[in-house]
Amino acid sequence: MLIRRPGDILPSEITPKDVFLNRRQFMTAAAGTALLAGEAAAALKGIPSRYSASEQPNSRKEITSYNNFYEFGTSKEDPARNAGSLKTRPWQVVVEGEAGKPKTFGIEEILKLAPLEERIYRLRCVEGWSMVIPWVGIPLASLLKAVQPTGNAKFVAFETLNDPKQMPGLASRVLDWPYREGLRMDEALHPLTILAVGLYGEVLPNQNGAPIRLVVPWKYGFKSIKSIVRIRLQAQQPATSWNLAAPNEYGFYSNVNPAVAHPRWSQATERRIGEFLKRKTLPFNGYGDQVARLYQGMDLTRFF
Ligand code: MTE
Repeated sequence: MLIRRPGDILPSEITPKDVFLNRRQFMTAAAGTALLAGEAAAALKGIPSRYSASEQPNSRKEITSYNNFYEFGTSKEDPARNAGSLKTRPWQVVVEGEAGKPKTFGIEEILKLAPLEERIYRLRCVEGWSMVIPWVGIPLASLLKAVQPTGNAKFVAFETLNDPKQMPGLASRVLDWPYREGLRMDEALHPLTILAVGLYGEVLPNQNGAPIRLVVPWKYGFKSIKSIVRIRLQAQQPATSWNLAAPNEYGFYSNVNPAVAHPRWSQATERRIGEFLKRKTLPFNGYGDQVARLYQGMDLTRFF
């Protein structure tokens, strides 16, 4: 008899897709946290399997109670405990720099730029743990294209909100605030790169980076910057918070790479949250087929 382990089965395979999505919409409405109500008429577009990790997602509890969001404290429990003070409406994102039509977007306008999609992605943290998360979001490309990048737009710089009144962790000097991240333009435009506004079919919990955060699944988790307020198109490679904090440990690219150890630990294996045994870390977090070509000819031990 052929027995598939639970880890091999997607929820969308267990339940017919239409039932699965309806149940989600029902649960969403019942929970009173309707992601889409009044904001985007688009329903979840379904499970685009091309982009989905073929693994069982972590539970909502795991995804929302074990977080890194240093603006709310440095322990894994701090964000769930403290992020209630973050006010996510109204929310604006400034998109500026090398763009023909720079613009400040209200969050509702961003939600209308493209249909919301569910993307089940692996997230591999540089610390050695991983999760599988069913995000809801839109391609970052749809926002960038809306402002018409100029030919000088080679990189994209991102910034998180920097408000000590809402973010108690900013009192600590652990990082140089605001939290900053960056991507090369081709990485930013890659179809795997999304702006997430929800998870498990519901609005993004504050501790996961509400109301809008980046998700770049083939890079270590710290690239996936939360609660974004500013996006700048620019010619130069942007400074990033973790690279500023420890340049020998965190490079600009930060592609998941089991062959390049962190100076203080190996990156060859990872522990999936909720599991006991470690698993092997995959190059580019398992997304190599889609993204390895972006780095052809680059020495990835140098550009780590
Ligand atoms: N974004 C901001 N603004 N501040 C942070 O401390 N932590 C990063 C990233 N984005 C962080 C951030 C790290 S180290 C990881 S692993 C992921 O968020 C964690 O995302 P999650 O809590 O949704 O799993």
